[in-house]
Amino acid sequence: MTSLMERLVPKAVKKLIPYQSARRIGGNGRIWLNANELEASLSFDFNENPKSLDKRSYNRYPDFLPHEIAKAYQNYCRTNAATVAVRGADEAIDLLIRAFCQPGKDKILISSPTYAMYEFCADALAIETVDVPLKSDFNLNVSEIISQAKNANIVFLCSPNNPTGNAIPKIDLIEVLEGTKNSALVVVDEAYIEFELSSSVVDLIADYPNLVVVRTLSKAFGLAAVRCGFILSSEEVMSYVAKLIPPYPMPDCSAEIVLKALSEEGLKLMKAKTAELINTRNEFAQTLSEFDFIEEVYPSSTNFVLLRVNENHDLFSVLLSDGIVTRNQHHEPALRHCVRISIGSEQSMKEVISSLTHYEQATLQTA
Ligand SMILES: Cc1ncc(COP(=O)(O)O)c(C=O)c1O
Repeated sequence: MTSLMERLVPKAVKKLIPYQSARRIGGNGRIWLNANELEASLSFDFNENPKSLDKRSYNRYPDFLPHEIAKAYQNYCRTNAATVAVRGADEAIDLLIRAFCQPGKDKILISSPTYAMYEFCADALAIETVDVPLKSDFNLNVSEIISQAKNANIVFLCSPNNPTGNAIPKIDLIEVLEGTKNSALVVVDEAYIEFELSSSVVDLIADYPNLVVVRTLSKAFGLAAVRCGFILSSEEVMSYVAKLIPPYPMPDCSAEIVLKALSEEGLKLMKAKTAELINTRNEFAQTLSEFDFIEEVYPSSTNFVLLRVNENHDLFSVLLSDGIVTRNQHHEPALRHCVRISIGSEQSMKEVISSLTHYEQATLQTA
């Protein structure tokens, strides 16, 4: 006999395979380079800070829309676009799909391989995902996207893209925006934008009412545990999103940390650390490319590096057996034998290289 729950749960929910977040996968290791977080936290604890610093009581519900944070983020982005803070870019993705797609009827469009949450959030709402895969050089198939977007409500583009690491050329994004301005909303997920700031399209929001930009403090700002993301859009788009925003979207304790991070000093610190990380990444990528069993190290505009290994070597398992947790991408048809490695401290990257060097020596000896 079918249980009550089985009868009640929608078919779309029964079919769901949960998104495999790094924390959900869990595991054991000593160096964690699998979630594109900053490995060491930035210290945003300044003495002379906004009034929020003195606020240590949490008995009142927080602001509905934390305006101070939105204002600080607009200043950081130098934009007048409508801006709202939400609980991470993941919540932004879910809100946008719920605001603009009707379950069981509408479609979203993605270009795989890309961030898995677009399709997951759509699946959860019985919204179909149309995939126009990236070309073999990881660039967009612009004409096909424009053609397929006629049947989709939202086009999700990720720039720089996770897990391929490349930024979409602005000229391609403009072509997509032009070609879809009467058919679909274009959401550009700029989670990694601080690592390639020149590719941001925030400045295009004024010209394209169908453009929405999603951002996060989880990457360059090193605040993944605070859960803060942003939606930037036209006033009209925001008026619909605002209808769905939960009553108290941002806990005060998160809001306080966010204000510190977005202060002048906070931004200075973030920018200095980002420049450091980019140097570490470039040196690491260069060293990786010297190993014979690594066939390709893809160019990165992010805080991670994607590499493809010769098919006889399982690099993900090699590193894991040494306590180094990375992200295997082999399940993606376009990314066979690929591994994604987040950039951590210089010391952590040295440990990765040392682990690979030992592996190389051991395989040479047995060959
Ligand atoms: C492209 C992309 N978008 C969004 C997110 C989620 O960001 P948040 O921590 O703000 O929910 C991630 C996290 O890995 C990501 O890679």
